[in-house]
Amino acid sequence: MPSPVPSHPAPFHTTSSEQEDLPHATKRKMADHLRRLETMFTLTPQRMRMIVEAFKDALELGLAKDSQIVPMIPTYVFGWPSGDEAGNYLAVDLGGTNLRVCLVTLQGAGKWEITQSKYRLSEEQKQDDGQQLFDFCAECLKTFVVTNIEGGVIPKGAILPLGFTFSYPCSQNKIDHGVLIRWTKGFGAPNTEGHDVVEMFRKSLERHDVPAEIVALTCDTTGTLIASHYVNPATKIACIFGTGCNAAYMERVGDIPKISALGLDAQDEVAINCEWGAFDSFEHEHLPRTKYDITIDEQSNKPGEQAFEKLISGRYLGEILRLIICELIDEGVLFLGQNTYKIEIPYSFDTAFLSLMESDPTDELLMIIGIFSHFFAVETTLAERQFFRALAKLVGRRAARLSACGIASIVSKMGYLEEGCAVGADGSLYNKYPGFADRIHEGLVDIFGEKGRNIVTYHAEDGSGIGSAIVAAMTKLRKEAGKYPTL
Ligand code: BGC
Repeated sequence: MPSPVPSHPAPFHTTSSEQEDLPHATKRKMADHLRRLETMFTLTPQRMRMIVEAFKDALELGLAKDSQIVPMIPTYVFGWPSGDEAGNYLAVDLGGTNLRVCLVTLQGAGKWEITQSKYRLSEEQKQDDGQQLFDFCAECLKTFVVTNIEGGVIPKGAILPLGFTFSYPCSQNKIDHGVLIRWTKGFGAPNTEGHDVVEMFRKSLERHDVPAEIVALTCDTTGTLIASHYVNPATKIACIFGTGCNAAYMERVGDIPKISALGLDAQDEVAINCEWGAFDSFEHEHLPRTKYDITIDEQSNKPGEQAFEKLISGRYLGEILRLIICELIDEGVLFLGQNTYKIEIPYSFDTAFLSLMESDPTDELLMIIGIFSHFFAVETTLAERQFFRALAKLVGRRAARLSACGIASIVSKMGYLEEGCAVGADGSLYNKYPGFADRIHEGLVDIFGEKGRNIVTYHAEDGSGIGSAIVAAMTKLRKEAGKYPTL
C-alpha cells in the first residue's frame, strides 16, 4: 500500500481542524504541556506555609542586623499621622515607569488637594549617569513650580518643603538621607549605587535653582502605608504590586535590635520599608523557581538579585509567559510556518497583555487574537488562545499566591491574624490585573485557614503623592517639637 503523502513538508507538523492553511498546535499537545506547566507553577498550601516560615526568619534577620538579604529599612517615619498635618508640600516620585511631580495641600482633618504632572521615563534615561537622571527630575520640577507660581497656586518667593519618593532600596541613617543599595526594576544608572541620593538630588535642585527643600526621603510603600492609615486607621501593612513589589509596616523600636545603639524610646514605633522583593536573593533556597524564572534572572542586569520580585512583579510576568511560548516555538509546537521574530524579542510581551488575556469576555477570545496578530504578527486558533489564557492564569495566580505569602509573613510575625487588619495595596498589577486581589485573599485562606479572611487588602491611597507630603509634614512637626531632631 502506498504511504500517505504528508500535507506539510516537515513530518512533525500537525494541522488543526479549525485552520487548514497553517500548521497549528494540536489540542492534545497543548493539554500535555498545560499539565506539565501546571505542576511547575502551582503552589500548594503546604508549600506556601513553608515559604511563610522562611520569610518570617528573613524579616527577623533583617531587623536584627545590617546588610541582610531582606534589608528591613527603618525609615525614620515615627508613628502614624494624626490627620491634622497641614500646609503646602511638593512631592517628587521617581518611579519604575514615570516621574511624577505634585503639589499637595494638606488641609487638616484628613483632607487634601493635589495638582500634578507626569513624565514618562525613557529606557535610556534609566541607564544614563545618575546625576543626569536627578537633573532631569529637577528640570521637570522647576517647570512645574514655575507654571504653578505663574498660575498663582504657589506663592512667589516660597521655598516649599519636598517629600522625595525614591522607590529603590536605600539604607538610611536619618530621614533626609539614603544610600542606594542597588537599583531594581531594570534601572542601571551608573554612579548612583553606594551614593546618597538625597545629596545628589539636592545638588540638581541647586544647579537648576529650584525653590524646594528636601525634608524627607520615602519609598512608595512607606508613603502608601501612611496615606492609607490617614484615611483608614485599620491599615497596618501597605504593599506595592506594580513594576516592582514591596511592603511596609509599623514596627516597635524595641523590636529592631540593629538600631538599639541610637538610644531611641523602645515603645516608639517606626515604619519599616521591608524591601521584600529581595527575599531569597542569591541563595535561592525557598522559592519555587522554574527554568523560565532562572532564565529571566540570568539575563537580567542584576542576576541573583530581587528573587521574590522577579516571580511577582509586572516587569517580569509578561516575560515569563513569553519565554514559555518561545520554548514551545523552538520545540515545534506553536506557530509552525509563521514568522515569529517579533515574539522572540525579550520583554516584548507586556504584562498588560496577560491582564487582557485573562479578562477577554468574548467566546472567540477576540482580544487575544488582536494581541497576537497586531503586536506579534502571528495567527492563532481558538484552542491556542484558550491555551495562552490558561498559561496567563498560571503565571498570574502564582504571583498573587506568592504575594499572599509575603503578606502572611508580616501578619504572622506581628500577630495580626486574630484581630485582623487592612492591607493598603497599590500598583498596576493590583489595580488592573483581573482577580489579583481575590487570588491573594484565597492564598491567605490557604495559609491561615478561615482566619485568613481577617486579612483584607484594599486599593490604597496615593502613597507617592499624598503619602510623601504627609511624611514631609510629620517630619517637620516632629523636628519642630524637638523629637529626634537629628534623625
Ligand atoms: C523597590 C522598592 C519599591 C518596589 C515597588 C522595588 O523594586 O526596590 O523600593 O517599593 O519596587 O515600587
